[in-house]
Amino acid sequence: MTEVKPQAIRARGLERRFVSAGQPLEILRGVDLDVGASESVAIVGRSGGGKSTLLHLLGLLDRPDQGALHLEGLDVTRAPRGVRDRLRRDRIGFVFQFYHLLPELTALQNVLLAAMIGVSPFDWMARRKAEIGRAEALLDRVGLASRARHLPSRLSGGERQRVAIARALLRRPALLLCDEPTGNLDERTSAEIEELLLEIQRETKSAMVLVTHSLRLAGRLDRMLMLEGGRLKAVETGGIADAAVPQTMV
Ligand SMILES: Nc1ncnc2c1ncn2[C@@H]1O[C@H](COP(=O)(O)OP(=O)(O)OP(=O)(O)O)[C@@H](O)[C@H]1O
Ligand SMILES: [Mg+2]
Repeated sequence: MTEVKPQAIRARGLERRFVSAGQPLEILRGVDLDVGASESVAIVGRSGGGKSTLLHLLGLLDRPDQGALHLEGLDVTRAPRGVRDRLRRDRIGFVFQFYHLLPELTALQNVLLAAMIGVSPFDWMARRKAEIGRAEALLDRVGLASRARHLPSRLSGGERQRVAIARALLRRPALLLCDEPTGNLDERTSAEIEELLLEIQRETKSAMVLVTHSLRLAGRLDRMLMLEGGRLKAVETGGIADAAVPQTMV
């Protein structure tokens, strides 16, 4: 029997405001978003429009001022912190523009860290060998088998991002959140990382929400949405070359 997976994301009317230098900033003004299990969605939009703010809400790193958020069918809007921390750890994988690797840990240790969070020393001892095996297999999958014992400072930008992708996958997340994953890479390396991310999304059948300024990358996902005026709007990928997308975005 095929397993019916719950919808990865259902967001309704998400609002987020900040106060900056005494001025209220209404960044998100009612974001609605549905992402199916195994669906990939790109979010584009001008700089400062609130894309990262939205990913922080979806990734349970921040809470909305208004609105409701369901992840995998569970209402997480007002879930207690412990529940949100556990979901974030077990169900969500993050890939950021600047990798966020710990400089004093090797590639392998950076990946493994994701398995250690919230685990008692006793449980860790029992699982350690299996987790190391999985981390090594993931580093192999992202093409870094021979660099597992290298520190991030010894790796190129593209290689660091590969480590970050392996780390994001360690817990077998249902949802991958990527914030400009190729934003810091040259064109050729960007193309390689794009390919890897898309392959991995297909292989793992996880849902993906990916923020990018690259229309080429955005156009390869199942759907493209634009964050504009604090709301998400569908973008017809057929018409992406013309007026639908302001040039300031690229
Ligand atoms: N914690 C905060 N306090 C005050 N202002 C904030 C906070 N977080 C974000 N902002 C403001 O909200 C706006 C949206 O920021 P955000 O980082 O979400 O934009 P973005 O679309 O990701 O931009 P970029 O494409 O440059 O990454 C910006 O004006 C930013 O300064
Ligand atoms: Mg951003």
